[in-house]
Amino acid sequence: MSEQRVIMCAGELIEQLRKETNGRTAESVFILVDSNTRRLCLPALSSDDYFGKVKFVEIAPNDDNKTLEALASVWTFLSENKATRKSLLINLGGGMVTDLGGFAASTFKRGMDYVNIPTTLLGAVDAAVGGKTGINFCGYKNEIGVINSSQSVLIDVNFFRTLTRKDLLSGYAEMIKHGLISDEKHWNDMLKFDLENIDYLQLQTLLRDSIAVKEKIVEIDPTEKNIRKALNFGHTVGHAFESHAMEVGDAILHGYAVAYGMISELYLSHKICNFPKELMRQAVALIKENYGSLPISCKVYDHLYDLMTHDKKNVGDGRILFTLLGDKGIGDIRINQDVDKKTILESIDYYRDVVGL
Ligand code: GLY
Repeated sequence: MSEQRVIMCAGELIEQLRKETNGRTAESVFILVDSNTRRLCLPALSSDDYFGKVKFVEIAPNDDNKTLEALASVWTFLSENKATRKSLLINLGGGMVTDLGGFAASTFKRGMDYVNIPTTLLGAVDAAVGGKTGINFCGYKNEIGVINSSQSVLIDVNFFRTLTRKDLLSGYAEMIKHGLISDEKHWNDMLKFDLENIDYLQLQTLLRDSIAVKEKIVEIDPTEKNIRKALNFGHTVGHAFESHAMEVGDAILHGYAVAYGMISELYLSHKICNFPKELMRQAVALIKENYGSLPISCKVYDHLYDLMTHDKKNVGDGRILFTLLGDKGIGDIRINQDVDKKTILESIDYYRDVVGL
C-alpha cells in the first residue's frame, strides 16, 4: 500500500489541492460529491478558475446509498468523460463519499490516483485515512472493497464549522478511541479539550495528533492482520448497539454507537485485562457527560449477543474477539481477547448502570 500524506490545510485548501493535481489539465481531474457537499462544500473549490472547470459527479448522500448502483454511476461518469489511469479523482465528502470514491478510483482502469477531502470530523479522523475503500452489498456493510490509500488527505477544519453538534461529537468519539489506544500525553490533551466552546484551531492540532495515531498503526499493519485491530476498540459492542438502534427504527450516529460501545469495552478491559479503574472511570465520565444514552432493555441482550457473533472481525469459530486495554493503562492494547457470553452481558449491564437506565 502506497504512503498517504495527511495535510492540514485550513485556509489553503485550493493551493494545496492545486499541488495535488500535479500539472494535470482540468479535463483530466474529476470531483465526486454527494448532494449535501455539492451545495455546502463544492463552491469552496469551484470558485477557483482551475477547479471551476473540473467536471463533477454527484451521488445521493448517506450510507444506505453506498451501493453498487452508485458506484456504477461513478464508473460510467469517468468512462463517458474519458478519464484515464493518469486522471485524478477528488472525493469531497464524508465517509460514504471517500469510501465509494476511493473504491471507484482504485478499480477504474485498474486504478487511478485519488485525493480525499473529508468534510466531516468522522470522515477526517477515520474513513478518509488508512486506505479502506468499498461499498455495502447484499445487506452487509463494506462487504466489497479494497485497501488502497489515497494519494493524500487534505483536511480543512473550516468545513466542520457547519456540522451539527451531534455530527461533531460523532467524529469526536473516534478521537476518544484514538486517545485511549495512544499514550498519556495525547489522552490528557483529549481530556483538556473544551467540547462546549470549540476552538477550531485547537481542534486541528488535536485532530492531527489523533490521525497520527491511526497512521502509525496502519503503517505497521495495513491489512489488519494484527495491530490494526486496535482501531476496533469500542466497535464490537458499538456495532451491535448501532444495528439494534437501526432495527427499532431509531438509528443513531456511528460515533455515538462507538461511544456507548466503549463504555462496555472499558468495563471488559478492567475486568479481563486489569485496565486501571481510575482510567476507566475517567473515560466513562467523558462519554457520559457528552453523549447521553441509547435505551437498551434486558430483553434484547440475547439479540445484541447474536449481533456480536456476526461481527466480521471474528474468525468464524463462534468466539467473539475483542480489542481491549490492559493493566499498563492508556495505549496498552490487547487484541484478540476472547470473552464469554456472561461477561459480555455483564458489560451491557455496566453500560446501563453508567448511563442511568
Ligand atoms: N475504521 C477502522 C480502520 O480503518 O481500520
